[in-house]
Amino acid sequence: MKIIKAKDYNDMSRKAANIISAQVIMKPDCVLGLATGSTPIGTYKQLIEWYEKGDLDFGDVTTVNLDEYRGLPRENDQSYFYFMNHNLFDYVNVNPERTHLPNGMNPDADAECKRYEEVIRSTGGVDLQLLGLGHNGHIGFNEPGEAFETETHCVDLTERTIEANKRFFASIDDVPKQAYTMGIKTIMMAKKILVVVSGEDKAETVKNAFFGPVTPQVPASILQMHPDVTIVADEAALSKCD
Ligand code: F6R
Repeated sequence: MKIIKAKDYNDMSRKAANIISAQVIMKPDCVLGLATGSTPIGTYKQLIEWYEKGDLDFGDVTTVNLDEYRGLPRENDQSYFYFMNHNLFDYVNVNPERTHLPNGMNPDADAECKRYEEVIRSTGGVDLQLLGLGHNGHIGFNEPGEAFETETHCVDLTERTIEANKRFFASIDDVPKQAYTMGIKTIMMAKKILVVVSGEDKAETVKNAFFGPVTPQVPASILQMHPDVTIVADEAALSKCD
């Protein structure tokens, strides 16, 4: 596990974008696993800037996203489909047919999870998976629990996650209560993993996840077992690690 210390959020974003760029340059037809949330927004902005300069070409890239809310239409501005289009896909030359997310509107959870797992398999596997880190140690929507969930599955979101998401919706009743997410096994199958973390409010989580015991109570701790993980974290996020 390699930990790269960044000065602040912008520095973290540039460093993470550099790692993703290197992947795209080294293997133009690579498969990128992508994340939503506030942390990767700066990374995506930087990638767009380099694309506009002509330094990056996403023409042969395939993307698979970690997760999607269940029951939110794609047009809803809180859906992860909408997020990805508005924060990255609309501004680079990625082929929309090669961008994949779970279909939150498929009411048949088992069928959707199987379908998505098959989509990921059919790409040949994820070359580089980008992850953010939840305050409770979640990755994707793999929440703390008794066991590591394996493949893509439907999750009930925890009260804490629903509470954290409510600021984006008109009322708490509108916040989705379930999501489809890649499982821990799906994530761990990626050849390389890149975690981005920023802010003092994540410092305790960073310490527990990357320097504490491997336990499903802190889902990100499983990353300690992956052979190729890079964490790009700013000083504030690393402030509790010596
Ligand atoms: C997003 C995702 C989540 C976030 C995590 C951190 O696709 O799967 O696990 O990465 O909740 O979110 P932020 O970056 O908003 O703190």
